[in-house]
Amino acid sequence: MWPGGSELIVGVPREVKDNEYRVAMTPAGAHALVEAGHAVVVEAGAGVPSGFADDRFADAGASIVRTHEAVFADAELIVKVKEPLPEEYDLLRPDHLLFTYLHLAADERLTRCLVERGVTAIAYETVQLADGSLPLLVPMSEVAGRMSVQIAARFLEREAGGSGKLLSGVPGVPPAEVAIVGGGVVGANAARISLGMGAHTVVLDRNLERLRQLDLLLHGNLTTLAANPLHTGAAVEQADVVIGAVLVPGAKAPRVVTREMVRRMRPGSVIVDVAIDQGGCVETSRPTTHRVPTFIEENVIHYCVPNMTAVVARTATHAFNNAAWPYIQAVTRKGVEQAIIDDLSLAHGVGVVRPRDGLVCRLELAEVGHQLWRHEDVALSDGELVALLVRLADVLGAAVWVVADLHDGQDFCGHHRRLAEAGWPEDQHVWPLPVVGADAVATAVLDPAVVKHPVKLVVVDELPYLGLVGEAAAQEAQREHLE
Ligand SMILES: NC(=O)c1ccc[n+]([C@@H]2O[C@H](COP(=O)([O-])OP(=O)(O)OC[C@H]3O[C@@H](n4cnc5c(N)ncnc54)[C@H](O)[C@@H]3O)[C@@H](O)[C@H]2O)c1
Repeated sequence: MWPGGSELIVGVPREVKDNEYRVAMTPAGAHALVEAGHAVVVEAGAGVPSGFADDRFADAGASIVRTHEAVFADAELIVKVKEPLPEEYDLLRPDHLLFTYLHLAADERLTRCLVERGVTAIAYETVQLADGSLPLLVPMSEVAGRMSVQIAARFLEREAGGSGKLLSGVPGVPPAEVAIVGGGVVGANAARISLGMGAHTVVLDRNLERLRQLDLLLHGNLTTLAANPLHTGAAVEQADVVIGAVLVPGAKAPRVVTREMVRRMRPGSVIVDVAIDQGGCVETSRPTTHRVPTFIEENVIHYCVPNMTAVVARTATHAFNNAAWPYIQAVTRKGVEQAIIDDLSLAHGVGVVRPRDGLVCRLELAEVGHQLWRHEDVALSDGELVALLVRLADVLGAAVWVVADLHDGQDFCGHHRRLAEAGWPEDQHVWPLPVVGADAVATAVLDPAVVKHPVKLVVVDELPYLGLVGEAAAQEAQREHLE
């Protein structure tokens, strides 16, 4: 979007979401951008809840502007923490690149807004490394995991409605029991703090390798249990504190702690369901807010705040910025297109790419954008995929292309045959394109033997980075076709 090196105006608005105290850039980040020849515009007060007064940004070379509107009006790259809220929709323009946690799968209205306004948006939460890890979610999981035990300790106190137990116990009085369900990033960090506070700590996970790692990491001080309904039920029943930390990537959290298990807990015990942002892994959970963070169900206190980390903004802002900075730097240095082509992990974060031109959309987004039909939290089977694409083609009155992912050595014929068996119509509307690599997409899209119809939407299956290349190529093909 921007030729590498040329001056770019980066905007840092104040967050408007309820109780969101983080800010998307630190003065150190602003300073580095200014040193690199860019301009940084910060909304007055944006950094204050995270401990950065306006003059810290001004000293770093940023301009402070009075209004939210002015940041969006001046900037080309907008860096935020939370998704734009409806009152911000009108401020978005086609030349904006938006960098933030977007959670588009859960927000059809925002998806439609971005599509209609033609914003290029990169979702922090879907930036993904080759090993499948999510580098911009990890720091928030670290913070949330550590917080979870601190929160549980607070609500265990009698004044807060809890059973009145001290996590560590004292000599002669046993410590509290903490059961952590899910031993990933949240679970490991919760376990560390729980052990540090002297509680007897049990971690359950269905991944034995993960339990082995935790056992080593925490020097055998915790109890590990293979997660299954029997073990989970027994651990929950014993627990004064249950931390919900299960994640199945891309899916709604499984309800591994049932209402029956919660009913058997002692009154005044505490559940912190950190996984609530994915629907919660406890059957009795429902989302709460920082304003009213808890409710009581089955005599057990439930804390289920989906953006827990917002209230420890000083720590969370730094943790978030440490992880986000390399991506912001790459985009400002190279321009978004080159940055995406150079770094597949960033490519995974592309939520919307100038979709107003009607050309490129990720598969997941196509589903969300057309949620009128379906959006499930489960992976689509081949048959469902075919049905979805045919509907897309019909409703859009357009050709829908699927760029098949042949990266991992699948042969195209096999791929094609599977889709054909699932009902793929080999008519003019839907073609799978057998390609490997971005250049091949461009070549295929430009090939007049392939392009028989104007292309309105390219669905890129598992290769989102190809979308950018495909977009340019498809535009060119369309022009040629129409001439
Ligand atoms: N509420 C918040 O503010 C907040 C902040 C950060 C993260 N989170 C959420 O916390 C959750 C956990 O995140 P994470 O980074 O630790 O994920 P992770 O992938 O690192 O860990 C998840 C763990 O769950 C385990 N698991 C999966 N299915 C299981 C099952 N049926 N039984 C037991 N264990 C199972 C996995 O093996 C894995 O070890 C996610 O939903 C994440 O979005 C919430």
